[in-house]
Amino acid sequence: MQKQDIDQILAELGELKCKTQKEIEEARVKFLGKKGTITALFEEFRTVAPELKREFGRPLNELKQKAQEVIESLKNSVVDEAAASAPKTDLSMPGDDYPLGSRHPVSIVRQEIVEIFRKFGYDVAEGPEVEDDYHVFEALNFPPNHPARDMQDTFFVSAGHPNPLLLRTHTSSVQVRAMEKMQVPIRVICPGRVFRNEAISARAHCIFHQVEGLYIDENVTFADLKQSILLFAREMFGPETEIRMRPSYFPFTEPSAEVDVSCNICHGKGCNICKGTGWLEILGCGMVDPNVLEASGIDSKKYSGFAFGMGLERIAMLKWRVNDLRHYFENDLRFLKEFETSSEV
Ligand code: PHE
Repeated sequence: MQKQDIDQILAELGELKCKTQKEIEEARVKFLGKKGTITALFEEFRTVAPELKREFGRPLNELKQKAQEVIESLKNSVVDEAAASAPKTDLSMPGDDYPLGSRHPVSIVRQEIVEIFRKFGYDVAEGPEVEDDYHVFEALNFPPNHPARDMQDTFFVSAGHPNPLLLRTHTSSVQVRAMEKMQVPIRVICPGRVFRNEAISARAHCIFHQVEGLYIDENVTFADLKQSILLFAREMFGPETEIRMRPSYFPFTEPSAEVDVSCNICHGKGCNICKGTGWLEILGCGMVDPNVLEASGIDSKKYSGFAFGMGLERIAMLKWRVNDLRHYFENDLRFLKEFETSSEV
């Protein structure tokens, strides 16, 4: 082995020029491959006399390192002509479709109901989900410890206070806030999320959605209530729809009623959705109790009104014949995609 051998290869490396990745690979093989010149020098080094090993060992290692560096930097800097002349991405091509998703069935139903009542001249009112006892119960004629409170199992946020905070069990609380703030005549609907401490099943959930409505003016009668609900039911479920009212009880309305619509699936003949009765229950309603008007500072001798409230999941279940309420909360895309075509509603 001679010093010139190393210098010779160093010089070759210094002049090395490659135009393509293929040429770089060839150069790598020439210097560092199994039969490459540098590899050969390492072979030769094994036979060098021990006293000379010091002299050659270091320059040889430096040579190998240099060769690797040169090859590496060429690899990074050389742009293959073949690759450079390959067709480029066509930026004028239309982009990939981005899946837009669709409206949730509960939102679709809420929007439909809101639109119907807007046509009747109602405004939308909203209020807090964490409410106080006063607006959810007290002002609505539920005295403290009254058994009617058991109708709505409540999640309390702070207990042991005279006016504890709780998760609203109905959006009637928003109607109370509307009566406090607004001047009569009042026509509002209150869509929103409500909470009840109930075991989750196919027919009940601890969270659901309501739309409640309130109309207060002079001379509002039960006939107005009945007609408004009938018009609503026909807009919502079709022009042939009939309604029937059954006496009921709510602390904040007197008289109170529950409303059924004629089953739009079997048209009154009886099917498994209406359980053979021909009728489907959709909402609760009644004439606002004078105590409720007075609690919010409205003169009950001069004014009267009606209120109603309905569960959106229940209406969505009837509309799309879904038999398990839990589908609305699980957000399984296979379920939600069923409503894609309804998204323009
Ligand atoms: N707030 C009642 C409920 O949640 C529904 C209702 C509203 C009934 C208005 C009568 C009048 O069950």
